[in-house]
Amino acid sequence: MLADALNVRVFASESEAAAACAALVAAAIREKPSLVLGLPTGRTPLNVYRELVALHRRGQVDFSRVTTFNLDEFLGLAPDDPSSYRAYMERHFFQHVNLAPERIHFFDGSAERAERECVRYDLELATAGGLDLLLLGIGPNGHVAFLEPGESLQAGSHRARLSRESRQAVASLFGDDVWKVPLAALTLGMAALIQARRVILLAFGVNKAAAVTAMVRGPITPVCPASFLQLHGNVEVWVDAEAGRGLDGSR
Ligand code: PGA
Repeated sequence: MLADALNVRVFASESEAAAACAALVAAAIREKPSLVLGLPTGRTPLNVYRELVALHRRGQVDFSRVTTFNLDEFLGLAPDDPSSYRAYMERHFFQHVNLAPERIHFFDGSAERAERECVRYDLELATAGGLDLLLLGIGPNGHVAFLEPGESLQAGSHRARLSRESRQAVASLFGDDVWKVPLAALTLGMAALIQARRVILLAFGVNKAAAVTAMVRGPITPVCPASFLQLHGNVEVWVDAEAGRGLDGSR
C-alpha cells in the first residue's frame, strides 16, 4: 500500500478536532511566544477560535508576542465593513484575546491599488520570517485561501476572481445575497502556503469529502489548488468521518 503524501487524522467529531487544534496552537505559542500564525476565515475555524478564546480566558495562552497574517480579504471592502473578513476576525477572535494590534496583518480590501497592496503584504510576511504555523480550511471546489481552481496558480499574493461556488459559500456574510458578494478578493499565493513551516488543514462534513479526496489522493493540479500541499512535507489534514469518507480503504 502506498503512503499518502499528506498525513490524515480522523477525529470523532468536529468539536474534538477544534479542541485539539486550539491546544496545538496554544502549545506552539508556549514553545515560541513570537509565533507567526496564518489564519483562515469561514465556518470551519469558528470552533477553533472559540476554544482559543476560552484557553486565553483561563490564562492558558498569551498572544501578546504573536504575529498573525490572515489569508485573504474581499476586494472593495474596507476593514470596518461588517461583511469583511477583518470584521469577522474581530468578532470571533481578535477582540477577545491580547494580540498586539500592530502584529495583526490583513489585506486592506479597499486599498486603491491592489497590486501595491499585495506587494506590501508579501513584504510584511517576508519581514516576519514567513508563517510558523498555518491553519487552513478547504473549499468544496478544492480552493485554499482564495486560490481558486483554474489553469494555473500564482506564487505571490494577488487579486483573485472568485468562483460562483465560492461566492455562494460566503453569501451568509452578505445577508444571504450572493449578488452582494464581491467578484474578487486579495489572497496569499501558493508560495506563502508551501513555505509555512507547519500546516494544519481542517475539513468537516460531507460536502468537503470530494475535495479532501482530490487533495490527498489526486494528482497535483491547479484544478484542485489544495493538491499542491502534497509537495509540502509537514501538512496534517484533520477531518471528521464525513469529510474523510473518500479515503477509506487502501489506495
Ligand atoms: P468554510 O470555508 O470553512 O466556510 O467551509 C472553507 C474555505 O473556503 O476555505
